[in-house]
Amino acid sequence: MRILILGGTTEASALAGLLAENPCFSPLLSMAGRTSDPRPLPIPTRIGGFGGVVGLARFLRDERIEAVVDATHPFAAVMSRNAAAACAETDVPLLALRRPPWEPQEGDRWIEAASMEDAVRALGEVPRRVFLTVGRLELTPFAFAPQHTYLVRTIEPIGDALPVPNVIAIRDRAPFDEVAERALMRRERVDVVVTKNSGGAATYPKIAAARALGLPVIVVARPEKPRDVAEVATAEAAFDWLETLHRGTP
Ligand SMILES: NC(=O)c1ccc[n+]([C@@H]2O[C@H](COP(=O)([O-])OP(=O)(O)OC[C@H]3O[C@@H](n4cnc5c(N)ncnc54)[C@H](OP(=O)(O)O)[C@@H]3O)[C@@H](O)[C@H]2O)c1
Repeated sequence: MRILILGGTTEASALAGLLAENPCFSPLLSMAGRTSDPRPLPIPTRIGGFGGVVGLARFLRDERIEAVVDATHPFAAVMSRNAAAACAETDVPLLALRRPPWEPQEGDRWIEAASMEDAVRALGEVPRRVFLTVGRLELTPFAFAPQHTYLVRTIEPIGDALPVPNVIAIRDRAPFDEVAERALMRRERVDVVVTKNSGGAATYPKIAAARALGLPVIVVARPEKPRDVAEVATAEAAFDWLETLHRGTP
């Protein structure tokens, strides 16, 4: 069974690992190409956009894809919309592999933000030391609050994406560790953390570290994703869904 996984996440890589070991499946994992040095995967990969809904629908037909798993990041809303539209058009079964959002725990000091612009406003007028962990492509709105000092952590270099006087840029990638996160926040005298509500374990340690240090966290809510799509939360459940589909295919 020819499967297209829309990836760029830990879950997509985990599903790739499960499928690689099963000769019933011929999977292909697609990435947008935002990371210059993606981790190696045990299945074939392709990199780059498809060209919207039309391009993806053509790709599904040309490659004779029999099932799509949308395992993109919770904030990759365009790709998920395109996948739903292209799969509906081509009659290819679609499964969304979506990790549940983080929920506040006792001791958390969360400030919920509806958007990145909302998060900027929530920082307020008084200069603060901000640990900004929203990804390189979401930095621009923070240029409108240049009074703050930003500790920015990204996978790729930020270039001139955040043109403010006080930026400390560090490059690192998940998984992170709570003890190290606490040490980093203490060393850099962080006042507040800004994060997307990405969910998952790999980047959760910053949330736990902020809780331990009593720091507020501005949590940006997820964008809407298509609702009328079958959904699971783990790579294992996605594998089971594919196996069931495969058994039912003549
Ligand atoms: N947004 C985040 O916070 C975040 C965090 C971690 C990882 N990621 C990963 O980074 C990628 C891009 O995220 P985004 O937020 O920029 O997505 P997006 O806004 O939903 O997608 C923008 C465009 O990028 C292309 N694209 C996105 N994901 C793709 C994939 N897996 N394979 C091929 N093309 C893809 C598509 O181009 P065409 O229209 O030309 O097909 C899509 O229309 C995704 O794969 C996502 O899983 C995103």
